[in-house]
Amino acid sequence: MSTLRGVSTRTLRSNLTTLNSVYSTCSRRLHSKNTVIENDIVLLKNVHNSTCMPILSNGLHPGKKIELFKDSILHDDILGKGIRDLVSSRKRATYRIQAPTLAEYTDLCPRIVTPIYSQDANLIVSLLDLHPIVPDLNHPSRNRLEIFEAGTGHGALTLNLAKAIHGANTAAPEPPVGDASAEMSPDILEAKREAYKEWRANRGAVIHTLDCSGQHSAHAETVVQNFRRGMYYPHIDFHVGSIDDYLSSRLVETGGSPFLDHAILDLPGTKLYLDIAAKSLKSNGTLITFCPSVTQINAGVLYARQERLPLFLEKTVEVGGAVGVGGREWDIRPVKPRALLKALVLDTSRTDDVEAVEGLMERARGDVGSHQAGSSPIKTASGSDDNGWEMVCRPKVGLKISGGGFVGVWRKMA
Ligand SMILES: C[S@@+](CC[C@H](N)C(=O)[O-])C[C@H]1O[C@@H](n2cnc3c(N)ncnc32)[C@H](O)[C@@H]1O
Repeated sequence: MSTLRGVSTRTLRSNLTTLNSVYSTCSRRLHSKNTVIENDIVLLKNVHNSTCMPILSNGLHPGKKIELFKDSILHDDILGKGIRDLVSSRKRATYRIQAPTLAEYTDLCPRIVTPIYSQDANLIVSLLDLHPIVPDLNHPSRNRLEIFEAGTGHGALTLNLAKAIHGANTAAPEPPVGDASAEMSPDILEAKREAYKEWRANRGAVIHTLDCSGQHSAHAETVVQNFRRGMYYPHIDFHVGSIDDYLSSRLVETGGSPFLDHAILDLPGTKLYLDIAAKSLKSNGTLITFCPSVTQINAGVLYARQERLPLFLEKTVEVGGAVGVGGREWDIRPVKPRALLKALVLDTSRTDDVEAVEGLMERARGDVGSHQAGSSPIKTASGSDDNGWEMVCRPKVGLKISGGGFVGVWRKMA
């Protein structure tokens, strides 16, 4: 009998059937109707003034109200209504009730750390070019898609990543968390815990998100749980601690084999984690680094080169409000100035290394020598390739115009 991570197909099928009948699944709970019920979060748009900032409610509860400037809206006036219905405030301003989009939700919900804004999170996810495979219980043997993200922060990018892998997992049993679980008998709670644990162990895709701050991680977990009743929560494993400790311990478990399909670093000093990220990434895996300054991308490129890491910076994209959708692409690569290359040609031509001489002359004919993917490093007479490199660092000509942070897209080469 074929197995899926140690669980027999038959056991898995029967457990999933039981789970689906005993527990309502997240997706069924969410999509059965458009009526606003307790705990829902809604977006309210002023129908008479489209320039008014939309209001994101908290979880709705009878007897509570949304406080506005010199005004308020009762939760009871929203509960039981449909999406797109209207609701009036105490001062008779009219609002349309909407389900917040993921972008509206992550941009508007209360934060304790600066998130990646929705358009940038979208771009990052699209740069990963994810194509998760849908679960097939008849052919359950497949490799799990694993994506690592540090730091978790607000959970904005985490949510976008989880949405992108949603199709790779079967419907999740209800996670044993929240108010409902507090009212369950210990037996039912234990059964739920076991079912959820087994489902997690068999996921086709997982987002591992790590933050060094327990407070940020806990807040992000709440942000994720509160979006559409936690529909993406089961795809995510939250970790608190150090990147090195987490990835190293996973590498010990795999006997040193790379296990990550993709990794994303959105934290200060991304350069410090290139080494461990490179070790953990599978061949051809993508690493994305998000840096506020382009010089940090430079530092990463030079560090990767100096340490001979199997990482190649494929592209650098500037993102932020003023740049526009899709970002502005930058040209960032180490080069040797022409004068230096000519000197090296003269130096090398005194040797018997014909290939090296030809390579250098070729590069000296162009503007500058450049390091491209898969190109072998230039060997000089002295055998050293590390001296005299400078960075090209400029927006790519003819592309869109400017604003915010820098996304480096790296490829694991070997
Ligand atoms: C800008 S926020 C990330 C925002 C997040 N990507 C989002 O979309 O909401 C940076 C996070 O990195 C965390 N952090 C900083 N240094 C870290 C480190 N060395 N290891 C893990 N997390 C770190 C911070 O605690 C903070 O929560």
